[in-house]
Amino acid sequence: MTMGKYVIAGNWKMNKLPSETYDFVKEVVEATKGAECEVVCCTPYVCLAPAVEAAKGTHVKIGAENLHYEEKGAFTGEVSAEMLADLGVEYVIMGHSERREYNNETDETVNLKAKKALATGLIPIVCCGESLEQREAGITMDWISIQIKKAFAGISAEDAKKVVVAYEPIWAIGTGKTATDDQAEEVCGGIRALLASLYDEDTAKAITIQYGGSMNAKNCAGLLAKPNIDGGLIGGASLKAADFAVITSAAK
Ligand code: PGA
Repeated sequence: MTMGKYVIAGNWKMNKLPSETYDFVKEVVEATKGAECEVVCCTPYVCLAPAVEAAKGTHVKIGAENLHYEEKGAFTGEVSAEMLADLGVEYVIMGHSERREYNNETDETVNLKAKKALATGLIPIVCCGESLEQREAGITMDWISIQIKKAFAGISAEDAKKVVVAYEPIWAIGTGKTATDDQAEEVCGGIRALLASLYDEDTAKAITIQYGGSMNAKNCAGLLAKPNIDGGLIGGASLKAADFAVITSAAK
């Protein structure tokens, strides 16, 4: 049982080469055939074109790992929402804790990026999550409430329904330390309740809420069985098609 549509998205981060991408996405297509969830590969910018090519006409969707919120112009090195959409990209990650830490991503830029993505027909995957210090201080939900409220500021209920929220406790990302099923469910349920208070129950139920942070072939079933966990944002385990496919088949 779940609320939003199940979405399993790989976040390749800074892994894989453009020259490896076409064959790897073809492997993912093959391995995840029959999946009952939305299957997404989010890749580095330079891998997007071969990824889109390999996924064309299949059930697999392609996402980017970032975008710029401005329309166009003098922003050297940046990539716009329109460029991504023009390429055939359908999803885009924003607010990942790594970008918040290393690339000055803030709640304000996440909000601008989410609005731009939605206006361009891209589905935003909005990441949020607490540090270990915040969890130990008992302020997890306070912190995440601020992130979510700011991310959704000025977004209509109709648009909000299209957004995917990824709850990723920072202490669980790439560490092999997964949140327990109950810890993840508690926060994802809290996010759903907050969204219901910001919008309404129907809108909150329609929004896909993913868990991310060391989700893998071994621990995915328990997490995905929770009522408020509608999918996963998968880093390390998305780099092997067979592991990724175990996760996509658990999402039903
Ligand atoms: P991980 O990364 O699965 O390697 O922990 C998840 C993420 O950062 O999206």
